[in-house]
Amino acid sequence: MPKITIDGVEIEAQEGQTILQVASENGIDIPHFCYHPQMKIAGNCRMCLVEIEKVPKLQISCGTQVRDGMVVNTKSEKVVKARRAIMEFLLINHPLDCPICDEAGECRLQDYCFEYGQAISRFAEEKHTFERLDVGPDITRNMNRCIHCTRCIRFLRDIAGIEEAGLSERGGHTAVGPYLEKSYQSPFSMNIVDACPCGALTSRHFRFKARSWLMKKTRSLCASCARGCNAYLWTYQGRVLRMTPAENDQVNQCWLCNAGRLSIERIHAEDRILEPTRSSALDEATGKIKTYLDNDQGDKIGLLISPRLTNEDNYLLCKLAREVIGTSWLAYVPGEPDDRPFGPMNRPLPEWFIRKDAAPNSQGAADMIASGDHTEDARTLINAVASGQIRVLLVFSEDPIAAFSDDPGVAESLENLDLLLVSASHRNLTSERAQMVLPEATFAEKDGSFTNEAGRVQLLSKALEPAGQSRSAWQTAQELAKLLKAKWSYASAADIMREIVAGVPGYEDIDPAALPEQGALKKQPENQDSEPNVEGDPDARVDPVDTDQ
Ligand code: SF4
Ligand code: SF4
Ligand code: SF4
Ligand code: FES
Repeated sequence: MPKITIDGVEIEAQEGQTILQVASENGIDIPHFCYHPQMKIAGNCRMCLVEIEKVPKLQISCGTQVRDGMVVNTKSEKVVKARRAIMEFLLINHPLDCPICDEAGECRLQDYCFEYGQAISRFAEEKHTFERLDVGPDITRNMNRCIHCTRCIRFLRDIAGIEEAGLSERGGHTAVGPYLEKSYQSPFSMNIVDACPCGALTSRHFRFKARSWLMKKTRSLCASCARGCNAYLWTYQGRVLRMTPAENDQVNQCWLCNAGRLSIERIHAEDRILEPTRSSALDEATGKIKTYLDNDQGDKIGLLISPRLTNEDNYLLCKLAREVIGTSWLAYVPGEPDDRPFGPMNRPLPEWFIRKDAAPNSQGAADMIASGDHTEDARTLINAVASGQIRVLLVFSEDPIAAFSDDPGVAESLENLDLLLVSASHRNLTSERAQMVLPEATFAEKDGSFTNEAGRVQLLSKALEPAGQSRSAWQTAQELAKLLKAKWSYASAADIMREIVAGVPGYEDIDPAALPEQGALKKQPENQDSEPNVEGDPDARVDPVDTDQ
């Protein structure tokens, strides 16, 4: 393995790594714009120039591979002077937009301008300007701010797998955008907003809503499909304003699909359920359940749980059914099966990145329900409602009328129940027919865990307080259990996870106290392979030097 010296520190590198990669792995910051760890190297911004002993000219560190004995200086006078010159050049046409620019506070150009910019510009000519353009429903393009790093072009071409943007014109007139002014069509197009190192591309959904330094950033998960992408939820004044990717090489690298990002709009939708039908709803429901239990008829009560709920929610609902109510009428509606492989995630980023199963926790729901007695499937449970075997149905985060829309009799049989109680975050066809409705927290408003399609257990974190009187399903389950005289005292989702680890097969190796940010794989059944390596072959994504831009 080659040994190199960077700024006087000797470092052992991997064969084939570039100077920039070695430096960043070892905490040495080399300014850069066009380099992106997941993209082909373009080497066009020249901001990453470094001095290499015995090499007469400065070299780009993003495109220069290390050699044994190399001595690199990233901070010499010559390097700093070159960076100042590059910044002066990049800022020739750049507007003084920071006070009104959405990128301010998280802009690489702004940061480097602070370090290497000059107070006075020698450019006396008129700046070249472009019209601001919306490119489709999601992105606004402001070419006055573009520094032509080509990250957006490379992402769309090499990672999203759709060649729809390029450079046009020359010199100061150079512009980057979709061909023939079409909008970006890729379902992953909003990743270019994150990849853009300045404010040339901004999200139309987030523009002018809040300054980045005023928002709270919470690492959590997207809850819109079974991939379980890691994401940051950005909140301000009680609202989630945007979702951006959090890195996890095993799941989503540093990307999110547009649909996942925009799913946050549902959190604050007008059809949110914010309070129970009546303040006494839970007491009344308990009274009804008790009459059945007193007559030894717990088996006339059914529970429908959900792959949209966390493991902790589902675990406690299963425990409520089995240990407190004494019923095995317990089922969930599974998400759409997906026979496409989960990985590896080589480029181009295929559309199968988004899983067909739109529920985030089908695997977890299956695991929680399989740990004890349960109904064969949700249709069997619904048939038992129709036949009168079940007289009380508790529905959590599900809409059986929509799920079984092929059977028009479902709505009528639910209406004939003695009690239909629905706990849901948003109004749905079933909640409209329920005698009692309880408000439920959304994925952004609770802690817990999901198990993704590949069996990876990952943590969901509360980004904001639950809206209105909503709460997690496990809290409702606990209150119901206590009203039915169970002595439960779970204080948090973590308390429940400890019990899951102790009792649910496959979860025994999960350490809830030390679950890494990337999550951990649950134990796979003997006959099943472990999670495929979704990171793929790194060489398939990063060519040492590609100067075709
Ligand atoms: S792109 Fe960056 S430097 Fe340019 S105006 Fe916006 S915040 Fe300022
Ligand atoms: S729009 Fe942004 S990402 Fe695209 S080339 Fe310009 S600066 Fe780079
Ligand atoms: S692929 Fe799935 S989990 Fe990932 S961002 Fe899209 S919807 Fe969310
Ligand atoms: S980061 Fe190396 S040339 Fe742009």
